[in-house]
Parts: sequence; structure tokens; C-alpha cells
Amino acid sequence: MLSMAGKVAIVTGAGSVGPGWGNGKATATLLARQGASVFLVDINMDAVNETRGIIEGEGGTCAVHRADMTVAAEVAEMVQACIDRFKRVDVLVNNVGGSAPGDPVSMTEEVWDRQIDFNLKTAFLGCKYVLPIMVAQGKGAIVNLSSVAGLRNDFSSGRVHVAYAASKAGVIQLSRSTAGAYAKKGVRVNTVVPGLMHTPLVETRLAKTVAGNDVAALLAARNAVVPMGRMGDAWDIAHAVLFLASDEARYITGTEIIVDGGITAAMP
Ligand SMILES: NC(=O)c1ccc[n+]([C@@H]2O[C@H](COP(=O)([O-])OP(=O)(O)OC[C@H]3O[C@@H](n4cnc5c(N)ncnc54)[C@H](O)[C@@H]3O)[C@@H](O)[C@H]2O)c1
Repeated sequence: MLSMAGKVAIVTGAGSVGPGWGNGKATATLLARQGASVFLVDINMDAVNETRGIIEGEGGTCAVHRADMTVAAEVAEMVQACIDRFKRVDVLVNNVGGSAPGDPVSMTEEVWDRQIDFNLKTAFLGCKYVLPIMVAQGKGAIVNLSSVAGLRNDFSSGRVHVAYAASKAGVIQLSRSTAGAYAKKGVRVNTVVPGLMHTPLVETRLAKTVAGNDVAALLAARNAVVPMGRMGDAWDIAHAVLFLASDEARYITGTEIIVDGGITAAMP
């Protein structure tokens, strides 16, 4: 079940912004545990080399590549480097992304543009350069990472991040519409929609931007809004990505798996 033996998987953002397990790092490690050769892509070589060390320490197969996923030429070069190294691309996980606070008045145009590039253009560029390879192979699976912020709003939190919400909603429709365009060509495109996850992002970035460095209060507040009573973690995301990338999901395309402990179901 869920074997990735013989498959080659590109995971973007395969490092982590802080110590512990981010979604890309856990996904890359899980795909390697299931037998995939994993092409680890990140803008930060220290972060991605840590993931490489973990996978190689477990006896898995991987290679690292530095690329800024917002820059087309670097994405094209990255995909070619994967082909040079592993000869094919069976799975692409577009995991790069993250939020910046602000509403249309408080957010600068530059932050808006960077958010759209960071969350939406990165997935577009990954698809752009991998799809022709998957079509030539006659088979492939793409999994894009969205967020529950792309599905619903939690006005009671006081947290506003309009560009993140808009770009993560865009990721869902990018996936669905691309899935339709490639359904007869053997390529499946799906989205994993994480809820409130306890990844290094929480302590490293959110504690500063939304909680005035009060980590304990931030963790308690995030746990409290989840019907299951706690945040998920990066492995919850990794398992959903693995399933959508696997041959067991062969009849699934153009849809989403929401991994949120019940948050979306609880919204009015
Ligand atoms: N952590 C959460 O609670 C949460 C919730 C909902 C959605 N998500 C989504 O999950 C995805 C992963 O989030 P995370 O918190 O696990 O990751 P993260 O913030 O830990 O980042 C993963 C890696 O991405 C790399 N990266 C950043 N910009 C890059 C670029 N331009 N090109 C290449 N690599 C780049 C970083 O160096 C880092 O190593 C994101 O799309 C995020 O929006 C996360």
C-alpha cells in the first residue's frame, strides 16, 4: 500500500523555517520512506541539507537543488536538473508558501505581489515545467499545498491576511482547472488543504507576527479553535500528500483533502 518504489518525486520547500518538521520536510521524508527518489528543492541550502541528512541517514535516496520557486528560469533549470539526475518526474509537490498579515489598506502593493508570487506563482511555475514531462511519460501526479485560509474566514481570530487567503484560494482553482486540462493525458492534480498545523512556522514566524512573542498563548489559542482540540502536525499533511501522490489515488483528480481536525466542517 502507498508504495513509491521506483518513483521520482520533486518536493519544493523541502527544508523547514525552523527546528522540527515542516510540511515539505515531513512529506519529502515520508515519500523517501515509501521508496521514492526525492529531489529536494529549497531556497535555503542549510534547511534542505538537514532534510537530506535525515533521508540519507534512514537509507533513502535523494538529491538537493537550490532554486527560488518564484523565478521561472530557476524552476526550469531545477526540473532539468531532476531529469539529469533521476531521468523522470512522477510526483511534484508544490509546497512553497506562507502568510503575511494585512488588509487592502494596511498591506503595501509590494507585499501583495510577493504573497501572490510566493503562494500561487510558485505552484504555477512548478506545474508549467513539470507537466510536459509527465505528459511525455503518460503519467504523473501533482499535489499543491493550499490552506483553510483559502476556504473560509475566521473573523473572531482578529487575524487578517487577505493576500494569503486570496492566493491559497487561487491554488485550489489552479489545481482544479489544471486537472481538467490534463485529465485525459494521465496527469492527476490535487490539493491538500492544511488547517492549523503545529509546524516550526508557528514558533519561528507567527509568534512574532501575530502573538507579540507569546508562544504559549498562541499555541493555546490555535488548539482551542480546532474541534478535535489540538493542532495537527506536518505528518498529518505528509500522509495526505502521500495518498494523493500514490497509485492508490489513481481515480482522484481535481479535488482536495482537507486536513484540519474539523475546522472547516464547523464553520457556519
Ligand atoms: N504550517 C502551517 O500551519 C500551515 C497551515 C496551512 C498551510 N500551510 C502551507 O504549507 C506549506 C508549507 O508550510 P511550512 O510551514 O511547512 O513551510 P516552511 O515555512 O517551514 O517553509 C518550507 C521551506 O520553504 C523554503 N522556501 C521559502 N521560500 C522559497 C522559495 N521562494 N523557493 C524555494 N523554497 C522556498 C524555506 O527555505 C523552507 O525551508 C506552505 O504552502 C504553507 O502556506 C502551512
